[in-house]
Order: sequence, then C-alpha cells, then structure tokens
Amino acid sequence: MREETRPNAATPVAVGDSMEHGLIAASNRGPVSWRRADDGELVPERGAGGLVTALGGALQDEPGTWVSVAMSEEDREVAVRHDGEPFEVKANGSRFRLRLLDVGDRFEDYYNTASNRLLWFTLHELWAAPYEPSGIGWPAAYRDAYAPVNDRVARAVIDAARESDGEPEIYLQDYHLCLAGGLVRKALPDAPLLHYLHTPWVGPRYLRRLPDRMVHDILDGLLSADVVGFSSPLWSESFRRCARDLAGATIDGEAVLWDGRRTAVRHFTLGIDETALEAVAGDEATRRAGEEHDRELDGRRLLVRVDRTDLSKNILRGLQAYRLLLERHPDHQERVWHYVHLNPSRQGVPQYREYLGACRAEAERIRERFGAHTLSLFVGDDYPRAVAALQRFDVLFANPSVDGMNLVAKEGSVLNERNGVLVLSRHAGAASLLAEGALLVNPYDVESQAEALHRALTMDDEERASRAQVLQQQARLGTPHEWFAAQRDALRQAVEARDRGT
Ligand code: G6P
Repeated sequence: MREETRPNAATPVAVGDSMEHGLIAASNRGPVSWRRADDGELVPERGAGGLVTALGGALQDEPGTWVSVAMSEEDREVAVRHDGEPFEVKANGSRFRLRLLDVGDRFEDYYNTASNRLLWFTLHELWAAPYEPSGIGWPAAYRDAYAPVNDRVARAVIDAARESDGEPEIYLQDYHLCLAGGLVRKALPDAPLLHYLHTPWVGPRYLRRLPDRMVHDILDGLLSADVVGFSSPLWSESFRRCARDLAGATIDGEAVLWDGRRTAVRHFTLGIDETALEAVAGDEATRRAGEEHDRELDGRRLLVRVDRTDLSKNILRGLQAYRLLLERHPDHQERVWHYVHLNPSRQGVPQYREYLGACRAEAERIRERFGAHTLSLFVGDDYPRAVAALQRFDVLFANPSVDGMNLVAKEGSVLNERNGVLVLSRHAGAASLLAEGALLVNPYDVESQAEALHRALTMDDEERASRAQVLQQQARLGTPHEWFAAQRDALRQAVEARDRGT
C-alpha cells in the first residue's frame, strides 16, 4: 500500500495555506470514501459515479474545498476525526481538500427516505399512482432529517466561504441539498451560487405530489441560486414552469424572476471523461474480462446493458423486450447473447431490493425458456468488466423510463470498437444529443423496444458505421472541464447582471 493512501495523508489544512481557495463544491457523496484494510487502517479511495467524475476533474486543476456527507461507518470515523474542519487527502492519484460531515442517525432518513425515495421517486416519476405516495412519515423525515442535514451542509459551505482567501464561488450539487442554497444566500447575500441538478426535473403537476411545504421550500432553496443547471433543456423547461406555476415566478427568457432575484436556468452538456475511460480501457483487468466475454460470446452478436440497479433504469421492461424478441424472432435464440451488467445500488431502500429480485427472476425465466446461453446476468461492482462489454457490443440497450442524462450511452458510444448500435430511451437526457445516431424508443412500450432491438441486431454495416460516427462525435461534446467551465461562465454572467441590476 502506498504511504499517501494512508489516513495520515489526510492532514488538516491551515487557513491561508496554498490550497485555500474560493471554489467550493458541496454534494451528498464526496469524491473520496474510506475502506478498512486488513491491518485495520482506513484507506481513502477515489469514488466512482458520474458526479465525482464530472466535478472531480475540474477540482484537480484548480483545487477548491469539497463539502460532503459521510456515508459509511468508515467515512464517519474519518469525519469525526476532523470534526468538520478542512483536511487534504490523496486518493488514487487525485488530491482533494474536504470538509466531511458526520450527520449521525439522521443520515438514514435524509438519504434513504427523503432524498432517494421522496425526491428521487418524484423527479423520476416512479410512483405507482393508485398506491403511492401516501405522504405518511414524510413530514418527519423532511423536517427532522433532510432539513437539518441541509442546514449542516450549508453551514460548512458558509464557513469555507468565509475562510477562503479568494472570492468564493459556490457549486451545490443535486437533489439531496435543495434547501442548502436558501441558507447560504441568507448568510452570504452576494456570493456567486450555482445549483446543479443531475436528475431530470418534472412539470408542476407531478412536483405537487410532494407535500406543499416541501415544494415551497425546495423552490425557495433552488431559486436562491444565481444559476440553476440541468443536463437537458427538457429539465430546465420543466423547472421554469414549476417556478412560474407553483412559486408565482415570472419567466424571462432562460431566467426566472422571483422574490426580487433573477435566477438563470440553463442546461450544460456533460460528455465523457475520455482520459479516464482510456486508462480503464487499456487496463489488464479489462483485457482479461474482454477475453472472457469473447469466449462466452463465441461468434454470436452481443447485446449489452450496463446499469445501476435503479428503478428508473427500466431493467425489467428491458428484459421483457428481450424475451419478446426471442419469441418473435426465434433466429436470434442461437445468434445473440445478452449480457446484463448491473451495479447494486441503494439496497437500503426496500423497493430497490424488490426490483433487483424481480429482474433476477425475469432473467432466470428467459434462461429457462430459451436456454442459459441466451443471457448472462452479472450483479456486482466490476468496472473493467463493464468497460470490456462496452468495447464489444453490437447493440447497447439503455431504456430508462427517465434519466437526467445517461452516461453509459455516451461512454458506450466512445468505447465501442464494432460500430455498435445504440437503442436509447427518448426520455434520457442524452437523447436530444444522440438522437441522430441512436434508435430512440418509448421506454414504456415493450413491443416497440423488441422491434427496435431486432432492427439494431440486423442493421447493415453501412448504416451501423454512419450512426456510430455520429454517436462518437456527439458523446465527446462537453468534456468535464468544458462542462464546468461553461457553468463558471454562466455564473459570472449571472452575477455581473445582478451587480448591474439588470
Ligand atoms: C446518479 C444520479 C445523480 C445522483 C447519484 C446518487 O448518478 O444521476 O443525480 O447524485 O446517482 O447516487 P448515490 O449512489 O450516491 O445515491
């Protein structure tokens, strides 16, 4: 183990030292998590996931402070050790300056109930309307966990801003922290503040399934920012309508005017991190995984899906579409191998556990009916294995019922070496950018998805090549650095306009 990965590499930072800077990011999940090594030491590891990839790169160039919430026992131990004070840590070659917050027993209700159930389910339109949501237990989770954690994060952001020697610039991330902006704004009326939502956003009617109080507070919090950012113009548009219809704001072009403030509501293109992808693609573990895939594939066509086990990823309907494909076009039974690669996610939420169970059962039914050779289901964390599959697919299937963006569609487009076809949900944020290259599908219509899979699997080489070319170009637009730079520009413009009083 390298010395710098030891926790003693996590050193408190004196105010005013060279790392002190006004760039401040805050998110629920931070860029580093800790695991306990066999010798009992806590070892920092750089986290994966879109948010960390996107923001992590940007904060390497120009180090800033990253405020986040401790998510595991190990993280909590580190957080308690530093007691909310900033410290530096190196993990897998990256260096971060963190303020890691231990929110104690509140974490469960803040993360699993309020964030991942109430807000995630609402923003992804996941409620089964005749039964849910009931609203029972919500006010407590919101009032006693979500709001206090937001308050804690906001206070850490305010401290970081006050202690910075540069002009503070604040970048809040995602649905876990919708209230933090309001608190920051009260303490720092002039600080440049941007809130980025990596999720979709819904229209006013759907948002109103949340208790009125929550809707009011969330809009109040987000509209405290100078800029609210999304990954697709569709989500910005929905947000503006919510601000108008539910908060009484006025829409002025891309901006929203409310309570004497002007908030620019913009979308920013986030592409792939090609350098990081290339590193994994060239890795020995990826090569070995690829050889295993090739053996199993044995000259057949490869249909791939790679997803977190999230309800919004629509994995079950995807499997049903594959079953229908094999029923309706029996030739594929011997000619296609479906590799389904799932990363377990949020297994603390009962609905997520049940959903994974339902997906496993459907996969098993397909294997029983058409033969085990037709489908393999992998459930686990093995990024090289996922990357190896993305390098070789003939068809990549990404059919989320709705998705803020869908990074896999973009990563697959760039990694693939076979002019593979992308079958993509029209409700993924990435769909507007990839529409020309992909076959777009209605995620709720299983029959049409089966037909799209058939079309993709039988597409001629010329069409595959020309579509793949478009996909590669489009997926490369907006590197994480460009994505972040565009936000900084938007924030500067918004603040300048505010200072001019326009
Ligand atoms: C996805 C979403 C992000 C979200 C993240 C949280 O990547 O696109 O909006 O922040 O999930 O996942 P986690 O595993 O941290 O709950």
